[in-house]
Amino acid sequence: MTIIVTGGAGFIGSNFIFHMLKEHPDYRIVCIDKLTYAGNLSTLKNVMDHSNFRFVKIDICDRTAVYRLFEEETPDIVVNFAAESHVDRSIENPDVFLQTNIMGTAVLMDACRKFGIKRYHQVSTDEVYGDLPLDRPDLFFTENTPLHTSSPYSSSKAAADLLVLAYFRTYLLPVTISRCSNNYGPYHFPEKLIPLMIINALADKDLPVYGEGLNVRDWLYVEDHCKAIDLIIHKGRVGEVYNIGGHNEMKNIDIVKIICKALGKPESLIKHVGDRKGHDMRYAIDPTKIHSELGWLPDTKFAEGIQKTIDWYLKNEDWWKPIVSGEYQKYYEEMYGNRT
Ligand code: NAD
Ligand code: TYD
Repeated sequence: MTIIVTGGAGFIGSNFIFHMLKEHPDYRIVCIDKLTYAGNLSTLKNVMDHSNFRFVKIDICDRTAVYRLFEEETPDIVVNFAAESHVDRSIENPDVFLQTNIMGTAVLMDACRKFGIKRYHQVSTDEVYGDLPLDRPDLFFTENTPLHTSSPYSSSKAAADLLVLAYFRTYLLPVTISRCSNNYGPYHFPEKLIPLMIINALADKDLPVYGEGLNVRDWLYVEDHCKAIDLIIHKGRVGEVYNIGGHNEMKNIDIVKIICKALGKPESLIKHVGDRKGHDMRYAIDPTKIHSELGWLPDTKFAEGIQKTIDWYLKNEDWWKPIVSGEYQKYYEEMYGNRT
């Protein structure tokens, strides 16, 4: 079995590669990644020499390079993680989101059609459903919730999802889609809430909370997401969408306070800054379908997962220090410098 994993030098894709090499030692995993600012080869250093692993630097929008690789590798399964993934960046510059997230998905599926495939899996997000109101805790996203996006990021992901379903219906491409809630864990790029707060708190820097910090996200430990995708690509029904989430809703402000407490830092570091444009209020997944059809349930409780994550960042400065000291510093100044 050969699996092409796109975006495997990023946060979730790399964790998925580690999971697959461990759980399926006889599979060949071929990672393709453009190595954008979010892709980091040092993340993959422990598997680079693994006999069943190959890394190839490719932009998923580069049709010629993608076709060449498919011809060489004749993959059985493609799992597409590659994406521009940060909402704030999509607000500043939507264009690259449309290119990678929509056009890149089309190129990959065209390659699957041309060379044949057992399964194309699209890694999507709960953000395609838009948001839920804070005063309706009884509401959750199901697979039948209409797509209703807020940001250029979520719109590009929703467009890709529609394209995937269109390739299923029109060309009978054997596809599946998963829509997961917010992930956290090792190798999470420091522009995202949890790693940003851990790293800033460690340096006694301001902890920039957008608005009141009352927005709710449904947090899932990254390994549980990887296990769910592993199940879907092997046992999920073709043409189906599966929501992934563990009923772990938390307000942003509470997450930041938990991080302060765990690191012994004062809450006075918290600074309420200007809100994100079009900021979604609440995400909350109903995971009934994946639980009842595939038996998936998350293994890691938030209290355990956040401690593991904090410990990982404490032990792995070698991974994140070069990131926060380089190009990312410029981004940080641009994004937070004038944000009052
Ligand atoms: P990430 O930003 O950490 O990683 C993205 C990876 O894709 C990087 O390695 C980057 O170099 C690569 N990439 C970007 N453009 C590319 C291109 N044109 N060609 C090849 N590679 C390219 O993202 P992540 O958080 O790991 O998210 C992975 C996927 O999961 C995305 O599709 C995202 O929409 C989805 N998702 C993320 C979350 C979350 O909480 N992070 C939740 C649900 C779904
Ligand atoms: P983020 O990690 O960007 O994920 P997403 O927008 O995809 O949910 O943000 C999570 C939440 O944290 C979101 O409500 C925005 C908020 N947030 C802050 O308050 N401050 C920050 O510096 C960042 C990056 C996010």
